[in-house]
Amino acid sequence: MTERPYVVGNWKMNGTRAMLSEARAIDRSSQRLMKVEVALAPPFTLIHAVHKEAAQLAIGAQDCHTDEDGARTGDISAAMVADAGAKFVILGHSERREGHGETDALVRKKAEAALAAGLRLIICCGESEQVRDAGAAEDFVTTQLRGSLPDSIEDAGANLSVAYEPIWAIGTGRTPTVSDIGAMHRAIRALLVERFGEDEGAAIRILYGGSVNPDNANELLAADEVGGALVGGASLAAESFLGIVVAAA
Ligand code: G3H
Repeated sequence: MTERPYVVGNWKMNGTRAMLSEARAIDRSSQRLMKVEVALAPPFTLIHAVHKEAAQLAIGAQDCHTDEDGARTGDISAAMVADAGAKFVILGHSERREGHGETDALVRKKAEAALAAGLRLIICCGESEQVRDAGAAEDFVTTQLRGSLPDSIEDAGANLSVAYEPIWAIGTGRTPTVSDIGAMHRAIRALLVERFGEDEGAAIRILYGGSVNPDNANELLAADEVGGALVGGASLAAESFLGIVVAAA
């Protein structure tokens, strides 16, 4: 089991080559912060360049297709992102579920394709504000996750992370309470143990995502069962992202 917190920057649809200097700065400083595993998921177009320029940083993709290759105009396969230098892929982000109609079954198929290509997984889950207000958040999230996870994953502790991201907290500056994050992460942990067994299930890191910044990172990362953070907006500048990495150390 790895105890190192995992802090992952998701650049979403942001970044041109002008942002390579941020990636280089993150790479340089994170080499001095060995207590934390730092990773970056730039857009597809920058994976190769960031991989080359930020050599110590684990680079990932934000999505992949279920198929390995073929007539799929505009799509990118897991094998292709691995070839470009990616070591992991983020799957099932709410922006893909909502904006591209991705279902749990599709996320699961993508996860299987990514594992076959040798990529590690970050599988996202999270409830809307309506679901939370209705008191159904835990049921919703565990059902979503249950449907999105492959049945078996070799060395799941190393190859799988889960990111809990309440949709209403993404990019809004709002966050759940530490106690609500802890309760959700405990429910996710129980599901992971049920699915992958006591040892593997306990070793999988569960990240929190949604408006994490250098000021709140300390408190959010201290919540029960939080093994790191998936960071959107604050990962676009090296200074704020590294502030979160320092808080995680
Ligand atoms: O993948 C990252 C999350 O969607 C969080 O985004 O940090 O901008 O709220 P945010």
